[in-house]
Amino acid sequence: TNYLVSVDQFSNADVTHYIHLAQAFKRGLAVTLKRPAYAMNLFFENSTRTHTSFEMAERQLGMQVIPFDPKTSSVTKGESLLDTLKTIQAIGVDLAVIRHPHDHYYQPLIEAGLDMSLINAGDGSGQHPSQSLLDMLTIYEEFGHFDGLKIAIVGDLQHSRVARSNMMLLTQLGAQVYFSGPKAWFNADFAKYGDYRPLDELVGEMDVMMLLRVQHERLTADKDATFDAASYHQQFGLTAARAAKMPAQAIIMHPAPVNRGVEIASELVDAPQSRIFQQMTNGMYIRMAMITQLLVQKGLLAAEPIEEVAH
Ligand code: CP
Repeated sequence: TNYLVSVDQFSNADVTHYIHLAQAFKRGLAVTLKRPAYAMNLFFENSTRTHTSFEMAERQLGMQVIPFDPKTSSVTKGESLLDTLKTIQAIGVDLAVIRHPHDHYYQPLIEAGLDMSLINAGDGSGQHPSQSLLDMLTIYEEFGHFDGLKIAIVGDLQHSRVARSNMMLLTQLGAQVYFSGPKAWFNADFAKYGDYRPLDELVGEMDVMMLLRVQHERLTADKDATFDAASYHQQFGLTAARAAKMPAQAIIMHPAPVNRGVEIASELVDAPQSRIFQQMTNGMYIRMAMITQLLVQKGLLAAEPIEEVAH
């Protein structure tokens, strides 16, 4: 395939492949392009981590990065996303990385049969496959496996594409997923991936506490008006007192950006059991692995990085 848009595309063997390839890049694996190759990152929603780490990954792989700013592009004149993609393909861009506020924005692009490669860097409250793979890398580095791991996904479940992607991939990989946070944000659809439990029942038993950002920008004005950060922190946040009950081997994860003092106590972000900044580092390597897979598909690499990945 020439597109990576949702975790439901990934078999367990694919996840293992991306993890091993990312680890090989961490150890210094380098690849060579057959010809100059061009990437464009089209971010219609704000980003720091994903945007920067995709650009870093593209540059590490030797790709040329062509700037794109939605605010000064012809999207402002009404040009559709599909026509924008057809345009940059016609000009010679090989890879488009797109973040967009609309769920499934990528469907018409796939149906149009574009020849260029496409990576979804987040669609509304849909999917965030590169975040999910970097989270899998981080968990694998810690525990060496997924089978039977107990993982709590806590917080703003209803808006979170990270939660959606991770609940799917973690259960597929054999982990046991639990949910917590405001019960109103627990959608009945999530029940097939795991049970909802009060946070205080979970903290003493989990291998991974995965906190989610409260997405103020996606809360309705109505709900926003009633949101109280201090009360949320006490009821649904990982407080220092709750973190003290975590097992010795347990880790804290958060896709970030973090609302310090809301879903997680500020000091825990930088605590020894936090892997939050390691997740960001891993993001660059896993994105190198994803892009490499697409470059291989397009025959753009001088040699496939097969032997180097063998471990
Ligand atoms: N985790 C994540 O997607 O962060 P950004 O929104 O900063 O890219």
